[in-house]
Amino acid sequence: MPNSVRPVNSAMSNVESSTLLEIANQSLLRHAGPFDELLVERASGTMIWDREGNEYLDFTSGQLCATFGHNPGELRDAMLESFQRAVHSSSLLLSEEVILLAQDLLELLPPNLSKVTLLSTGSEATEVGLKAAKMATGRWETIGVSRSYHGHTAGAAGVTFLPRRQGSGPGQPGVHSIPAPYCFRCPLGATYPECGFACVDVGMDTVDTQRTSEIAACIIEPILSTGGMIEPPVGYLEHLRQRCDEQEVLLILDEAQTGLGRTGDMFAFESSGVVPDVVALSKSLGGGFPLAAVAITDTIAEEAERNGLRFLTSHMNEPSMALIGLAMLTLAKEHVQAGSAAKQGKRLESALDELMDESETVGDVRGRGLLLGVEFVIDRTGQEAAPEIASRVAATCRRRGLLVQVVAGNVWRIAPPITVSDDEIDRAVSIIRDSLEEDEHA
Ligand SMILES: Cc1ncc(COP(=O)(O)O)c(C=O)c1O
Repeated sequence: MPNSVRPVNSAMSNVESSTLLEIANQSLLRHAGPFDELLVERASGTMIWDREGNEYLDFTSGQLCATFGHNPGELRDAMLESFQRAVHSSSLLLSEEVILLAQDLLELLPPNLSKVTLLSTGSEATEVGLKAAKMATGRWETIGVSRSYHGHTAGAAGVTFLPRRQGSGPGQPGVHSIPAPYCFRCPLGATYPECGFACVDVGMDTVDTQRTSEIAACIIEPILSTGGMIEPPVGYLEHLRQRCDEQEVLLILDEAQTGLGRTGDMFAFESSGVVPDVVALSKSLGGGFPLAAVAITDTIAEEAERNGLRFLTSHMNEPSMALIGLAMLTLAKEHVQAGSAAKQGKRLESALDELMDESETVGDVRGRGLLLGVEFVIDRTGQEAAPEIASRVAATCRRRGLLVQVVAGNVWRIAPPITVSDDEIDRAVSIIRDSLEEDEHA
């Protein structure tokens, strides 16, 4: 054990980062592989600084939560105000701010979604959405989409179809998956739009032969983010909804990453015209603090309540988080009205498209608003996935002061705060261009 350090506030700066990492490796569970060597010192807007004073453009928005920038003043004000009121209360005791947040959220959603519950994490939001659907319908089987991510708690991991579900025994019984709408690498070898959404039809027909009872719900992210930044093609959600309706299967949309303005609209489902039965929100709602919500229809709420729905955590209905949620919703409304993500997303996406023209290894640029993906290939003709290039270029970008996240091996997720400036976008693109060139000439 290295010399014991008790870093408190300013004393922290005296401890070498290498020493801290050594302590981390001895004292913290490596819950997601090796620890990153970047130790964060502070963050503001689009920027993150490490302990050595290096600055980075954070084009990951932290864990997709700093949608309105890191440490916005509105977050601090809401936190301070909660100290004047109540930071915490029993989850069984409501407060004005909790009730107002529920009302504000419902005002943004379609009128069929008329009941909301406030939670802490996206995983919990998935759990509650699934549980309410099961208890309302009296059914228990569910459908998820291959390459989806909905969280790490048991129920959420059950409908997550990524390698990360492996290693801790059987998944949940009665959970089925349908193929991902991954047009760049169609799992059925088909081509859109001639395919007629075969991924939905083949999937649903297969589920029909697998299920042993009726299906309660189908859950999907409007953009399958962690599984490879897969944006379903136009008409997909409508087709899925139609297939669900045929069997009275409820449709749950997980807007953890897409909701509250990131794609340009308040919610990503809006542009499809599809109205979901359940919407799960998290991440941006707390702006970095743990706040999540699930909105459901009156019918689901009534039936689930009648059938004895119970769900309780110590941090449901926290007044402090509700004040933060109210502040974040105000920011979301302002940014959607101003067209922030749509405008800045267009600037970033067209610059990335130009990079695709310049570089053979950039196979595809896709996404919506400021939730964009770049898929790396060995060359564009063969489209062979190039995970090493994706990781190597991301590492070079970091060395040059830009953070992007590698998801699903050969795909980058690029998702800066929607407050990102023109200049920050141009700097990021120039770092990516230089890093690609460096890689090509290595
Ligand atoms: C679409 C989606 N759903 C659910 C979750 C789980 O959220 P949390 O990590 O807050 O539990 C995530 C987290 O990345 C997510 O991206």
